[in-house]
Amino acid sequence: MEENKQAIIERIQELKILRNAVILAHNYQIDEVQDVADFVGDSFELSRIAAQSGADVIVFCGVHFMAEGVAILAPDRIVLLPEIKAGCPLADMITVEALREKKKQHPDAMVVTYINSPAAVKAESDICVTSSNAVRIVNSLETDEVLFVPDMNLGSFVAGQTDKRVILWDGYCVTHHRVTLADAAAARKSHPDAVIMVHPECRPDVVKAADYVFSTGGMIKFARETDHQKIIVGTEMGLVYRLQKENPEKQFYLLSQGLICPNMKYTNLEKVSKALETLQPRITVPQTIRDLARRPLERMLAAV
Ligand code: 13P
Repeated sequence: MEENKQAIIERIQELKILRNAVILAHNYQIDEVQDVADFVGDSFELSRIAAQSGADVIVFCGVHFMAEGVAILAPDRIVLLPEIKAGCPLADMITVEALREKKKQHPDAMVVTYINSPAAVKAESDICVTSSNAVRIVNSLETDEVLFVPDMNLGSFVAGQTDKRVILWDGYCVTHHRVTLADAAAARKSHPDAVIMVHPECRPDVVKAADYVFSTGGMIKFARETDHQKIIVGTEMGLVYRLQKENPEKQFYLLSQGLICPNMKYTNLEKVSKALETLQPRITVPQTIRDLARRPLERMLAAV
């Protein structure tokens, strides 16, 4: 088994050179995929790396909207998503038709779209955000009214840190939304000397009960820099692997065992190798949508 795994890793390394490819992995990917990646990061970091990459082939180990974002920013590159089934239920909670209707009700609002959204929705937006820059970007906008889509929890988090009127959409990340205040209280009871950090996709009451709120990239940075030795982690379980690997002297506890995103677990070494071998499944975005969706993404990249 181990020998077989080593052979797949070696094949991936060969194919990477042959294809002039780069492998990007989101912080929620399984351990062995994180280990084989050239870069592991949060949504914003990976978008920026993809936009600047000189590789001909970008293998995106994450979920569909992330690879789609790369296909928008780097249309001349071959963008591969090793498992085509890897979707995002939150991104599926909005359609472009529904957004157009809502925009009619709020004609003066700027549309701020979380990166966890379909390309066609981005194409109807003024600016994109990720969890690492949403507050800063909303506060920098010239408008008093913002239509924030599709994550109501991240939207509420932003609304609490701005004077702007924030109109929410009723979408949510099923994994983070599953975490309850009772889970947070139980985690604190089990580890009374630990601090709690959560992702802003968690419910507002969970966010309020936490000590810190960060994107996954923010959590990595905090864990590296803090003097706290014990940290309860309120985001998808994949992040704990990287936190523990980078900070072996500290202890990390997953806030709730429900913090698992099945879509992020579909990708494995075999699928990465096969994608590089076959150059499939390839993610592309129709040019008309791509041309419109590029602006809000580039606006986000330029804003931070
Ligand atoms: P980050 O940008 O914090 O990595 O979040 C991505 C995501 O999809 C959270 O569920």
